[in-house]
Amino acid sequence: MKKIKNIISIFGLGLIFFIGCNSKREKDPSTTLRVTFKAEVSDELNGNTIDIWKTLNYSERQGKYLFDKYCTVCHGIKGEGDGFNSYNLNPKPQNLQDSLYINKVSDVFLNQIISSGGSGVNRSSQMPYYKFLLDETEIENIISYIRKLNTIQE
Ligand code: HEC
Repeated sequence: MKKIKNIISIFGLGLIFFIGCNSKREKDPSTTLRVTFKAEVSDELNGNTIDIWKTLNYSERQGKYLFDKYCTVCHGIKGEGDGFNSYNLNPKPQNLQDSLYINKVSDVFLNQIISSGGSGVNRSSQMPYYKFLLDETEIENIISYIRKLNTIQE
């Protein structure tokens, strides 16, 4: 009899645990997503909590995603030319946040250097080419994000 009681209570505990886990799991995705999103944003701005994603339109967001993924190692998280690999580069990439610079260069040039690399526009071949990795729309999205970099304050 005692055994049966034990089995029943163990089963009961298991059931409660199971229900508990399940309801947690139902709640979890949104919470996790929100937390990751916030962490990502503040991490990327080195502790700055301004939600920059909200200031970007759709194309710029796509561009930021790609820029963060492919370009920041050399160009730095904010495009200032201070990525962790930048010590290795000579010449160093231009500060893309500099309004004087970015207002001067054309979309055609930006498109060419991203698509064909530095060597495609008689610049350093340490700037890689992305024509086989990124399609035209992705490159355009990156350009619209690069053009927005000078408005992102620390
Ligand atoms: C391996 C390092 C490296 C990576 C990765 C890299 N770049 Fe560059 N980039 C450079 C270097 C070095 C230059 C400077 C070339 C020069 O001035 O001769 C440059 C130049 C540029 C320029 C022209 C600005 C200038 O210096 O006048 C643009 C725009 C640019 N890169 C965009 C990008 C984008 C967008 C990505 C990602 C898709 C990217 N780069 C990835 C190294 C890199």
